[in-house]
Formats: sequence, C-alpha cells, structure tokens
Amino acid sequence: MKRKEWRQLIEKCKMLSFVENGDERGHLVVVEGNRDIPFEIKRVFYIYGSDRDVIRGRHANYHSEFVLINVAGTSKVRVDDGRQQKVFDLDRPHIGIYLPRMVWKDMYEFSKDSVLLCLSSEHYDNAEYIRDYDEYIRVMEQYEDNMEKNQKSSQAD
Ligand code: TYD
Repeated sequence: MKRKEWRQLIEKCKMLSFVENGDERGHLVVVEGNRDIPFEIKRVFYIYGSDRDVIRGRHANYHSEFVLINVAGTSKVRVDDGRQQKVFDLDRPHIGIYLPRMVWKDMYEFSKDSVLLCLSSEHYDNAEYIRDYDEYIRVMEQYEDNMEKNQKSSQAD
C-alpha cells in the first residue's frame, strides 16, 4: 500500500447501490464481479442469527476486499483506519458497502431478521486476518514509518 492510499483508506469505503429489477412479481438484484463491484468474487458467506448486542468482524485483512449487503434486515458497519472512523447503515437489500483491504471493520446492531451477505475477493485464509486492534495500529504505523524512511533516503540520494 502506498502512503497516499493509507491516508485515503477510509475514503475508499463506499456505499454501492445496485439496480433493483422490480415488477409486479417482486424484486431481483444482480451483483456481478468486476462489474457491479470492483473485484472478482472468490468467496461468498452470510451471517444471520446474531443478537443485537453482538459485535462481529473486529478484524482487518491483508489481502481480502469485501462487499457487505444486508439482503434481509439491517445492521451497521463501523470502519476504522487507525485515524478516522465512519459508520455505514445497511438497511436495504439493494445497497452494499465496499471495504478495501487493511481497513478495520466491526459489524453490529443486527436486527432479528438480519441476513448479511459478504462477498470477498479472496478465498478464506485465517493467516491474512489481523484480529488484534493494537497489532493493526502497529502494522499501519510501521508501514507509514517505512514509507517516510524510504522517502527521506530517496531524497538524500
Ligand atoms: P469470523 O471471522 O470470526 O466471523 P466474523 O468476521 O463475522 O466475526 O469467522 C467465524 C468462523 O467461521 C471462524 O471459525 C472462521 C470461519 N470462517 C471460515 O471458515 N471461512 C470464512 O470464509 C469465514 C469468513 C469464516
């Protein structure tokens, strides 16, 4: 990740709105990899039956990008890049949140009927998860320090 990217990490978390193909029979929403969302979909999982006071996620991923969609019910997603936080509401089945790699995320306030669909750019690999917030901050700071050192040494050359 380049320094500029780390600075803009939270700005990369974006709400996406998908087309609702609705008629008298109901609605149909299509999410195609590399078209409606900015990556090829390698993994799909979904989360349901979480109580309202549960906080899920609490991790960052070195490689995986995600799009989260509440296909039923509602939840909130809090994103954090170590400097700023933002909260997004997932409350309609045709909207999603895009999460870039290396952003810290919490999913919470699940409604009883919440079904949270998660699309990912990578297959599951537990080793690419950072599950400790202090470690996440260390990784992000270390990255920034290295970038500053590299910049200084290239200016001195
Ligand atoms: P976990 O990462 O704790 O879920 P969340 O991000 O919602 O808090 O995953 C719960 C369990 O499911 C854990 O044992 C790992 C497993 N798991 C997989 O095997 N594959 C997957 O793609 C995911 C997301 C989780």
